[in-house]
Amino acid sequence: MKYLITGATGNIGSLVTERLIGAGATPCLLTRKPEKTRTVFGDRVEIRLGNLAGSRTDLADVFQGCDALFLINIGPHLGERDRTCALAERDAGVRHLVKLSTLDVETGVGTGPWHARGEEAIRASGVYHTFIRSSALMSNALSWADSIRDDGVLSSSTGDGKIAFIHPDDIADVVVSILTGREPRNESPVITGPEALSYRRMATAIGEAIGISVRYETLSDADAMTDALLWADHAYAEALVDIWRAIREGRLATVSDGVQQLLRRPPKNFGDWIDENVGYFAKKAGRSQ
Ligand SMILES: NC(=O)c1ccc[n+]([C@@H]2O[C@H](COP(=O)([O-])OP(=O)(O)OC[C@H]3O[C@@H](n4cnc5c(N)ncnc54)[C@H](OP(=O)(O)O)[C@@H]3O)[C@@H](O)[C@H]2O)c1
Repeated sequence: MKYLITGATGNIGSLVTERLIGAGATPCLLTRKPEKTRTVFGDRVEIRLGNLAGSRTDLADVFQGCDALFLINIGPHLGERDRTCALAERDAGVRHLVKLSTLDVETGVGTGPWHARGEEAIRASGVYHTFIRSSALMSNALSWADSIRDDGVLSSSTGDGKIAFIHPDDIADVVVSILTGREPRNESPVITGPEALSYRRMATAIGEAIGISVRYETLSDADAMTDALLWADHAYAEALVDIWRAIREGRLATVSDGVQQLLRRPPKNFGDWIDENVGYFAKKAGRSQ
């Protein structure tokens, strides 16, 4: 089997790539930054220069000779990019497209409508597909590190609403099991972490791990938008505020047994993730762990 991986320099694609290499494969990586990608993976991968914003013809050339594709597209135009990739995949004769999607396709919140358009386009192309509808990543909590570490505070507009963040390792394990182990069945598995938790609870747990008390402050949607615009473009900031509002209103507390069903083991919990990442929260201030 030849695997074509996109997003290999990002959060999930990098974990998927390492797992495939560990299983003895030499995955093909679509990248617009070949030097950066080569620095990360050396000669353990095959680099294929390409751009997910490129044309159907160019992408079909990149996909040639591959059996399965792991697709990560980002941004408000990801639906159009998913469509072009699916058509290019069909042209190139790739058998299975595995798309990292979001649970929010089912709630219509945040980036859900972007991914819903992508899923619909892939379905319409007729290619065999799996849409992995994931909840939000535990690693999103890394964006809390500066404020927890420097000020002992977490501010958000999620109030006491809860969400079942998922460990990135679980997403990667699910992706690899589907890429390598299953006949494509045009499925859309929902995967989440094991337990829905409030941001306050998660911040408290991080504080306990680094030996400080973390105060939780509630932000208005308007203030959350102002903060998000410091690092995100307008469309993404709006999507984030929509997600945070939905958490606050109790609309994103879904817990699924998808990881257990697909991997025959329970999902990792937020405490596991903290143990692995505690250094991001503690190191600069020199606080003991
Ligand atoms: N964060 C969450 O909580 C969450 C939850 C569920 C689903 N998702 C979905 O997960 C996806 C993001 O996954 P991630 O966090 O692993 O990604 P990420 O860390 O944001 O990385 C994005 C990857 O895509 C590549 N890329 C971006 N534009 C490209 C282009 N035009 N051509 C080729 N490559 C391009 C980047 O490569 P370069 O090195 O070239 O920049 C990078 O490798 C999104 O679709 C998001 O909606 C996220």
